[in-house]
Amino acid sequence: MAMAIALDGPAGAGKSTIAKRIADQLGILYLDTGAMYRAIGLKAIQQGLSPKDETAVENLLNVTQLDIRFVDGAQQVWLDGQNVSDAIRTPEASKAASDVSTLPVVRRHLVELQRDIARRQAMILDGRDIGTYVLPDAPHKIFLTASLDERAHRRLLDLQNRGNTTATLAEVKADIEYRDNQDSQRSFAPLKQAEDAVLVDTTTMTIDEVVQTIIDLIEKQKRA
Ligand code: DC
Repeated sequence: MAMAIALDGPAGAGKSTIAKRIADQLGILYLDTGAMYRAIGLKAIQQGLSPKDETAVENLLNVTQLDIRFVDGAQQVWLDGQNVSDAIRTPEASKAASDVSTLPVVRRHLVELQRDIARRQAMILDGRDIGTYVLPDAPHKIFLTASLDERAHRRLLDLQNRGNTTATLAEVKADIEYRDNQDSQRSFAPLKQAEDAVLVDTTTMTIDEVVQTIIDLIEKQKRA
C-alpha cells in the first residue's frame, strides 16, 4: 500500500481545495472520490432513472465504463468514453451522487476502484468514508468541517465561479443539509469521523492556514 492521506468531511468543508493544495505541496496525486459517485448519479438521471432505485442502478453499473485519469497530475472523470469532469458539478448531480451513494452495490463497486488506485501511488483521497472504510489503515486521517452557513457560502461561490448565475444561497444551503443528513444517516459506510482522525474546523480559517495545519500534522505524525 502506497502512502495515503484520508481527508473526510461534509459537503462544502473545503476538502477539494485543500486536498489539491496539499497534493501539490507534497508532490502526490489527489483522488476526489465524490466525483465517482457524481458520475454514476449523473448517468442515472440522464437515463431518467431514480438514483435511489437499487435494481435499476445496479443494472446501470453493469453497463457503465467509469475511468479516472490523471492528466498533468489533475484528475479527469470519463463516463462511457466522455469527459464528464465539468458536467458532474451541477446541483442536480450533487443530489443524485448523494442518492446513489446510499446504495451498497454502488459503494462496493467504487470503493474497490478507489482502493485499487490508492494501492499504486502515494495520494490524498477526499470523501466521506476514506478513513473509516476505504482505507482504515491510512497513516494520516483528517476530518475537515465548518459551520453549515460557511459551507453554504463557499459552495455558492464555487458554483458562481463555474458560471452558475441562478443558484441562490437558500437553495445551496438546502442541498447541503439534505446531503449532510443522508450522507451521515445511511447505513453502509456513512459520513463519520474515524476514531483516529484529527478534526480540523475551518470555519474561521484561511485556506493557507488549513493547508499549513494539515502539513504540520502530517510531518509530526511522520516523525512520531
Ligand atoms: O464530495 P462530493 O460533494 O463531490 O460528493 C458527492 C456525494 O457523493 C456526497 O454527497 C456523498 C457521496 N460520497 C460518498 O458517499 N462517499 C465518498 N467517499 C465521497 C462522496
